[in-house]
Amino acid sequence: MNYSLQMRIGRLELVNLDQPSIAPIVIDFLSGKTAYRRKYGHAGGEVISKAVGIKKGHRPNIVDATAGWGRDAFVLATMGCRVHMIERSAVIATLLEDGIRRAEHDEKIGPLIKDHLSFNCGESQQELLKTPFEPEVIYLDPMFPHREKSALVKKEMRMLQEIVGQDEDADELLTLALTIATNRVVVKRPAYANFLAGIKPQTSIKTRKHRFDIYLTPRP
Ligand SMILES: C[S@@+](CC[C@H](N)C(=O)[O-])C[C@H]1O[C@@H](n2cnc3c(N)ncnc32)[C@H](O)[C@@H]1O
Repeated sequence: MNYSLQMRIGRLELVNLDQPSIAPIVIDFLSGKTAYRRKYGHAGGEVISKAVGIKKGHRPNIVDATAGWGRDAFVLATMGCRVHMIERSAVIATLLEDGIRRAEHDEKIGPLIKDHLSFNCGESQQELLKTPFEPEVIYLDPMFPHREKSALVKKEMRMLQEIVGQDEDADELLTLALTIATNRVVVKRPAYANFLAGIKPQTSIKTRKHRFDIYLTPRP
């Protein structure tokens, strides 16, 4: 594992020095997959919006305690939710900050991003005790060994896994989140994965690849 963070043409890139032919990782909310989700996800009924409880006239405030590339958080923010992200890897956090900075300067979505998206680099088991607002929803998407074959997913997930490891404390994070979220905790898992901490959710929403496990709080 030999990576380098490099600033090129005004954006921060994570370069794999062992395989320089591989395109570097950049967090770019304004083009590619994330921009596509922002533009077309709403019409296609992004499952994530149902999972977090978005309804006509209600946009829950959310803490994303496993921010990663910030994609899910960004999509939720563009749907009108106030989202606070937490990420503990300093490398990923630096890339994320750079992506947010560029999105904030965008003419179209900059003002919305400034209003709706905030970020902190830290360990969620501590940061969840001092979030900027009381979260109705806590969103968790911890690392899980992926089986997907797509080259892009493989590359991004492999790099993420090499940098952040396996999130082996995810069970404890769920247990803590359940005591803090005022409405629900949503856990994103690969469709084939077991329940986090072995705790059965009240309900799950399934897509072809993923499952959103929904834990209503306070538990009935
Ligand atoms: C699979 S990625 C999340 C991807 C994200 N949902 C997205 O849309 O880009 C998981 C991330 O959560 C972070 N993470 C896991 N446990 C954490 C914790 N306890 N505190 C802070 N960050 C954590 C990892 O460092 C990793 O970057």
